[in-house]
Amino acid sequence: MAGRIPQNFIDDLLNRVDIVEVIDARVPLKKAGREYQACCPFHNEKTPSFTVSPSKQFYHCFGCGAHGSAIGFMMEYDHLEFPEAIEELARSIGVDVPREEGHAPRKDTRRDDHYSLLEKVDRFYRSQLREHPQAENAVNYLKDRGLSGEVAATFGFGYAPPGWDNLLKYLGNDTHSQQLAVELGLLVKRDEGGCYDRFRDRIMFPIRDRRGRTIGFGGRVMGDEKPKYMNSPESPVFHKGQELYGLFEARKASQKLQRLLVVEGYMDVVALAQFGLTNAVATLGTATTPDHLERLYRTVREVVFCFDGDAAGSRAAWRALENALPAMHDGREARFLFLPQGEDPDSLVRHIGADAFQKKTVESVPLSQFFFEHLQQQVDTTTIEGRDQLVNLARPLLQRMPDTVFRDLMLDQLAEYSGMSASRLQTRVFSQEKVLREEPPKPPSSHSGRSPVRTAIRLLLEQPQLAETVVTPCGLEDFDAPGIALLCKLLEILHQRPNLSAGGILEYWRGQPEEQHLARLAGTPLDLPAEGLAEEFRDALQRLLEQRNSYRMELLLFQSRQQTLSDSEKDELKALLAMRHPTNG
Ligand code: UTP
Ligand code: MN
Repeated sequence: MAGRIPQNFIDDLLNRVDIVEVIDARVPLKKAGREYQACCPFHNEKTPSFTVSPSKQFYHCFGCGAHGSAIGFMMEYDHLEFPEAIEELARSIGVDVPREEGHAPRKDTRRDDHYSLLEKVDRFYRSQLREHPQAENAVNYLKDRGLSGEVAATFGFGYAPPGWDNLLKYLGNDTHSQQLAVELGLLVKRDEGGCYDRFRDRIMFPIRDRRGRTIGFGGRVMGDEKPKYMNSPESPVFHKGQELYGLFEARKASQKLQRLLVVEGYMDVVALAQFGLTNAVATLGTATTPDHLERLYRTVREVVFCFDGDAAGSRAAWRALENALPAMHDGREARFLFLPQGEDPDSLVRHIGADAFQKKTVESVPLSQFFFEHLQQQVDTTTIEGRDQLVNLARPLLQRMPDTVFRDLMLDQLAEYSGMSASRLQTRVFSQEKVLREEPPKPPSSHSGRSPVRTAIRLLLEQPQLAETVVTPCGLEDFDAPGIALLCKLLEILHQRPNLSAGGILEYWRGQPEEQHLARLAGTPLDLPAEGLAEEFRDALQRLLEQRNSYRMELLLFQSRQQTLSDSEKDELKALLAMRHPTNG
């Protein structure tokens, strides 16, 4: 039923809705100059750093870095998927969303079927916790563990009764449902034909996605049988490496989550919630993956990882740290809470209470401290050899971090511990070993804020019509420097769609790394009068052409030393040499 939504429609939709109206209906905005402001709905703050630009049709928060078009806002704020956000915006201006034909709709309906079956099964387990003659055991077990009916309702606890065919009978003779239940791992196929219930005589914890749809289950025995927990297997709608138990409930408990606590088990999440600490989530029996981290940091800027205080806990914590390093973009923070021996968050919160537990999370160990303490334990920094080892241990880890102030500070700290100057460390850690052989010249890569390519893109985001002032091809197509491909693509898109706003432009790169770059650029203020933009743009392109020519010249000169150039290459080199200012020659 649902094919792809045509890009043209998305472009037009973003031209027709006004992001200021869309956001203002949910988060009241105040006018501030040419833009609008509010306290950011995605993080906790007292002074507004959330800005909406009507001209760029783009929002941006200077505090937490949230940003995007009207579509992106709907996705984040209303927890919608991409097509749903579009449907919602389209409805607000009274148009229907067209779908491209011939795009395998089969798969989508199958997914819908999976979700509705899970919902049905979820209802079944919950009803059994109230109605089944043997549910008393389960209810008593939950009471013994100190869980209230309220928490049971919030997390949707259920009961899979004893026996091999309760769910099977409930689903009836409908082979389609049975087939779906097998795909979801709720029923298991017998070798000799037919199937049986996977979950028997267990307390059922529904696992929900960000939108609250049940996507799988965890089931706990009430005695000492093994395995203690049984989980839904991976399925078309359930991926353990991406989902976090309790994230939906945590977001529901508070619109402005500040910090998330990552714990190990289902019971830890629900026990903490029982004590009013409603911001815990659990990975589902796996280590924290990069996907988990992205989900966590899309929700909050601070994540506290809880681990057992023993050796195994410390190893697991270090693995989490290693995975967290690439996710440490500006403004994000990771901390580590090591629990006393023999305690898990569930037992600890019952022993010391919510306030003391909360205090422990606030006082947990920052990533930087854990990082250096852990490495220093492995070497003897009183000797040069030990300090050498320290640098070598830290180097691959620092290399995995994004280029941020935080990384600079980590490097300074390493300089202090190793007794090496920060600048020498910088070269050791971040530049490749010097190669003696002559290397071909590299295209210029600018790290300063005002490189011409950045300026050009920035200006196009401000005033997309500037694209019409250049012809294509613009002569930069063969220039392999950072950002140029993006600039060329942007010019190409804007030639076809001169009315796109910055918000609309971003949609072309949704989910790709370029989206982040573009959003960051769109969010930086531009201190230029509107009349000066065209000239600035022409100037930036001119400088890029010069860079391209001088790079191309160096490259041809280099090649001429290695091999003979072709005739056309010789002509090109001659022309490039002639173009240089006579005074340089
Ligand atoms: P724990 O054994 O620490 O469980 O496993 P727990 O959360 O403290 O549970 P209680 O307090 O005994 O009820 C932590 C997590 O590891 C996974 C589950 O996700 C569990 O929540 N696990 C554990 C399994 O998947 N299967 C098991 O048999 C045990
Ligand atoms: Mn436990």
